[in-house]
Amino acid sequence: MGENIINLIKEKEQVIKDLQHIQSLLGWDQETGMPAAASGDRARQEGLIQSILSSHLEDESWEEWLPELAGHENTDFRSWHRILGKRYRQNKVLPPGFMSRFVETSSLSRNRWLEAREADDFSLFAPALEQVVELLREMCVYQGYEDEPYNALLDRYEPGITAASLDTLFSNLQSELTVLMDKALSGPKPESKLREISFPADFQRKVSLRILEDMGYDFDAGRLDESVHPFTTTLGSRDIRLTTAFHENDFISGLSSTIHEGGHGLYEQNLPLEWFGTAAAEASSFGFHESQSRLWENIVGRSRPFSRYLSRIMKEIDPAFDFEPELLYSELNRVERSLIRVDADEVSYNLHIILRFRLERDLVNGSIEVKDLPGLWNSLTEVLLGVKNSSDRLGILQDIHWTGGDMGYFPTYTLGNLYASQIWDALVRELPDTDGRVEKGNFTGIRDWLRERVHSKGALLEPNELMESVTGRKPDASFFIEYLKEKYGQ
Ligand code: CO
Repeated sequence: MGENIINLIKEKEQVIKDLQHIQSLLGWDQETGMPAAASGDRARQEGLIQSILSSHLEDESWEEWLPELAGHENTDFRSWHRILGKRYRQNKVLPPGFMSRFVETSSLSRNRWLEAREADDFSLFAPALEQVVELLREMCVYQGYEDEPYNALLDRYEPGITAASLDTLFSNLQSELTVLMDKALSGPKPESKLREISFPADFQRKVSLRILEDMGYDFDAGRLDESVHPFTTTLGSRDIRLTTAFHENDFISGLSSTIHEGGHGLYEQNLPLEWFGTAAAEASSFGFHESQSRLWENIVGRSRPFSRYLSRIMKEIDPAFDFEPELLYSELNRVERSLIRVDADEVSYNLHIILRFRLERDLVNGSIEVKDLPGLWNSLTEVLLGVKNSSDRLGILQDIHWTGGDMGYFPTYTLGNLYASQIWDALVRELPDTDGRVEKGNFTGIRDWLRERVHSKGALLEPNELMESVTGRKPDASFFIEYLKEKYGQ
């Protein structure tokens, strides 16, 4: 009887996964090649798939099946029960049709955002964003929350995190980062040498492919394309796709995007095989996912040994691009007061996140409204980053996340940075000669260590438990501060 029900659950899980992957395929196409005029059709198609998906997620059979898993003797099955139980509760509380309305609204809102960005005019996007925010506020009410509505959204991305705990964490971080910023900017600022040089997209693509290959990203089960906003998406257990964005006059930007998405891709490609087709073969949390991309992009990809490796492979690919490792290192680690989050350095990056956290928290909780956003954005930019801004495109309209209703998501980027430092600390203590390996472009040891400790655990452990199993302690922000002090504090 028990075995029978488990098979029924597995079949249902596979259907849900397949629908989610079809949904991802629609999204991947929308970002990489869909003609603009298709946006209406696509929004409707996405809404349709979502309504089919919702019917499976809310299926009453779960009421009968879930208790069967709850008492299972195997702890992994009990973890699976926790994941499915939470998912069922989250879906069951929403009224019929809510999620497909949400998906359709956010799909259309993305196109308004593109138009507004083009015109550098937030007012063109504001009505669409208002609709998205309205739906999010509704969702928080259905979901239920403690203390404030925004907590309901945080829980979707990082179980166990609250707005109040983030507020404390971020305030401390803000004061540390402000001091480090001032320090890093106190010396003379040489002009960027690389930005005077044009790097053909074809060359950049070859460098990207070479690095992904060396990182151990499996091209038989993946590919690299280009999109405005780089991302990683999973279309099947053996179909993990990455995108990047090349800019001819900014080599570092495309390079870091590729390495970043490569880190996400490795996580997805190395999830536990035996759980494929279920919700247990997913990352532990968004913060954990981001820890993997940040670890590769920043801790590995902006290190001195990596600069030596990079210098070598650039020359190999095209002898015309011959740069001293030390030059690449300084370009990779240039600290700047800048407006754009995705191009920000490791020190200022989290200040961009703190800004978004404060605004989206107030917006979801209802203490500010959409029309207040551009003004608040610009004044907070000045307070946190010390830069004046008056352009919507370079300010409030720079990120795609809010268009799709992804509020509560940004904080996981900073959590990812914190987790990455703590994980790396454990990794180098166990793995001999990490620097030597990175310099040689031999990333196998690092990748295997991460696969064994992090990726292969899937979602079976919650973020705090997983961090303890990987590093022997709970998440601790001091590793990140130490890492930055060592690198930028002198
Ligand atoms: Co990421």
